[in-house]
Amino acid sequence: MREDFEALSRIGATPEGGVSRPTFSAAHAAARKWFLARAGSAGLGTHIDAAGNHSAVLKARHAQDARSLLLGSHLDSVPGGGRYDGALGVVAALHVLLAFKQAGADLPFDLEAIDFTDEEGTLVGLLGSKAIAGTLTPEILEEARGGHLALVAGLQQAGLEEERLREARRDPGSLAGYLELHIEQGPRLQREKVQIGVVTGIVGSRSFRIVLHGSGGHAGTTPMDERRDAGVAAARAILGVRELIVREFPGSVATIGDVHLEPGAFNVVPGLARLALEFRSHDAAELDAMELAVLAVIRSSGKAEGVDVEIDAAGRWQPTRLDPGMCDATERAAAALRLTTRRLPSGAGHDAQALAAITPSGMIFVPSVGGVSHDPRELTAWDDFVNGANVLLGTVHELAGP
Ligand code: HGY
Ligand code: MN
Ligand code: MN
Repeated sequence: MREDFEALSRIGATPEGGVSRPTFSAAHAAARKWFLARAGSAGLGTHIDAAGNHSAVLKARHAQDARSLLLGSHLDSVPGGGRYDGALGVVAALHVLLAFKQAGADLPFDLEAIDFTDEEGTLVGLLGSKAIAGTLTPEILEEARGGHLALVAGLQQAGLEEERLREARRDPGSLAGYLELHIEQGPRLQREKVQIGVVTGIVGSRSFRIVLHGSGGHAGTTPMDERRDAGVAAARAILGVRELIVREFPGSVATIGDVHLEPGAFNVVPGLARLALEFRSHDAAELDAMELAVLAVIRSSGKAEGVDVEIDAAGRWQPTRLDPGMCDATERAAAALRLTTRRLPSGAGHDAQALAAITPSGMIFVPSVGGVSHDPRELTAWDDFVNGANVLLGTVHELAGP
């Protein structure tokens, strides 16, 4: 498993020690190719569905038209991300299938290790898992947060077609459940010296594309009190959103993760600013309140600078409860391995949010060193990687019943 993880980490590796595998990039395609070749060479079945989800399959040996238990995560990454986010779960899932295959196990379901398309939202976010869940609507594709044109171009590059994405939908009756092993991407497990996180639910999130329309101008001759500076309006918005969330929504988060000023030169007053805004909460009602308050701050920041504000929705994930039965099975598996556990919610989004709409879904966390993620410094100790894979295997065993 370690050799596989190291081999995978070399694909799209960055000089800083992480990986950069944005959806449908050459590195992402190479990682997916590696995954299927590795599974195929070990005698597992492999397939790619209409949404580009890549699967390795261990068919049930005796059960006729068995349902599928999906073990998944994702091989795409954020730009300049870490080696573990998504990849740890896919490599562990692959090795759980290999372990059951080598043991000649007689499972009551097909076991499928799946790499979902575009979990991170370079294009849409949870694209592949929503396609499987049948919840990928034309509106979601239209408001793709990477832009609809980029989505179409990316799909084309991967040999996929927008019109056919929804053919990837799985009949809920064909599924026995979904399990995902993932790094915590936060500090709690390490801080509390707990080995396994049993995830009870996943945060909801809303994204918006903001464009601030001011007036460009000469940086040397435009008097300060006559400017409509989109850059200053953007700065007001960033600070205003931060102060609002800390003051009014303690425990929830908001981020303006990208700011682009145009034309972008030392000697030109920026006439236009493009912002990427997202905010998250575990509570759907609070997300509504945050949307009203945050967008009001964005508008007032523009007004204070005499700048026009354009706001477009760019995707949303609902807060999601995970299956209590899956939590129980995970705790039993961890106990059998004498590993310590705690239940906790996830502040990061995951494909399990999409799968939970159609099948009992569970997540298993392993500690992130320093809670760092979406960064080349992302790190999980090898013992924790192995503990997570063993708990994933043990949970499959628990679900397979006596
Ligand atoms: O953004 C997230 O929370 C996840 O890593 N895609
Ligand atoms: Mn992830
Ligand atoms: Mn991520």
